[in-house]
Amino acid sequence: MNLHSHSISSLQGVLTVPGDKSISHRAAILGGLAQGVTEVDNFLCSEDCLNTLRAMEQLGAKVDVLEERQGYVPVRFRITGVAMSPKAPERPIDCGNSGTGMRLLAGMLAACPFDSEMFGDASLSSRPMGRIMQPLEQMGARIEARGTKPGCAPLSIHGGRVHPISYALPMASAQVKSAILLAGMFADGTTTVRQPAATRDHTERLFRHFGVPCTVDGLTVGTCGPAFPVAHDLTVPADISSAAFWMVAASRPGSRLTLRQVGLNKTRNAVISALQRMGARMDIVPTSPEDAGEPYGDITVYGSDSLHGTSLLPEEIPNLIDEIPILAVAGALGRGDFIVRNARELRVKETDRIATTAANLRLMGVDVEEFDDGMVVHGGTPLKGTELSSYGDHRIAMSFLVAGLSAQGETVVTDAECINTSYPGFERDLAQFL
Ligand code: S3P
Repeated sequence: MNLHSHSISSLQGVLTVPGDKSISHRAAILGGLAQGVTEVDNFLCSEDCLNTLRAMEQLGAKVDVLEERQGYVPVRFRITGVAMSPKAPERPIDCGNSGTGMRLLAGMLAACPFDSEMFGDASLSSRPMGRIMQPLEQMGARIEARGTKPGCAPLSIHGGRVHPISYALPMASAQVKSAILLAGMFADGTTTVRQPAATRDHTERLFRHFGVPCTVDGLTVGTCGPAFPVAHDLTVPADISSAAFWMVAASRPGSRLTLRQVGLNKTRNAVISALQRMGARMDIVPTSPEDAGEPYGDITVYGSDSLHGTSLLPEEIPNLIDEIPILAVAGALGRGDFIVRNARELRVKETDRIATTAANLRLMGVDVEEFDDGMVVHGGTPLKGTELSSYGDHRIAMSFLVAGLSAQGETVVTDAECINTSYPGFERDLAQFL
């Protein structure tokens, strides 16, 4: 499927983007493992999260749709959990395009007393799984990576009794941290994970929400097993990573756009401060109750005529890692240099996002320097609309459709169906501004 965009003058309105992807995956897993019935509101009904929900069904959880919104998207689910006793799946588990789904489920399956298999699409089958295999094997699981590329999916997991470990993460990854903590829930004793930098803490927050022990001491997080999560309803805030596309789109002069109920978790919101440093004007009004597990609020973006580059700080990279392609587009639209370094992890996302972002920016006429761990975007050259590939990567597709809103001529993004992995409804939201 091809999607098109073209230059517009300004953006006005109010938008509610779909639920947070990271939180929805974790809600499916913890709700599915818990004892009792969890109602999850505003679940992200995207292909990635539905695959995780289906995986939990294969493991014995019961999932009912309670509400569909706008006629077609289920957004409220009732999950009846398996009380920490998943059953062996009858078929291999399909994780689709999702690294989060595969890595988090692997943590749980490593600790289950049966064999299981997981597979994914071509992109997922080329992403590194050694990073979870190593700590999970230290905990006692046996995992085989059977992909054509070494260390890659499909995975065969020979689960069983796991023991607690103290693990120092070699890279700042919330997925690896979460895989270890999920296995740690089943182990007898305290499992700790030391992070080189703070990463998104949704697992820690949901552990507390479900009554699972969770300690945080600086950059070290821990849990103590065996743990028994207890069902607890939750509402998923709108995904700040999806809202980021509109923050950049609404940075054009004359715009005023309010994004509602957006997750403001401080391990996820550096895109806001980065854009503010780049000259974007935003008002943030927290609307969540004080004690909400995940804070959220309304963000109003006002257009600015003085967008300019910035240098992303090393410590903010894990906090805005998924927003770098759209920030690079903002960098191209502003004056001066937009500098990203210390972001080698971008090379192992759904695509090599340093290469795919740079390739598409260059096709639009932007001067980009590429480094092993980042890029420098030399901003300020008018963008040229052209035909671009998504490379099968949802965030690349959406970033360049937004770039097209500021380009001369038409922008076409091919293979745009991948957008459904994280933002069903993006096409409709885009259409209202064209
Ligand atoms: C995620 C963590 C990040 C992020 C991904 C979602 C999560 O990946 O890029 O989109 O939900 O834990 P890494 O843990 O590999 O950095």
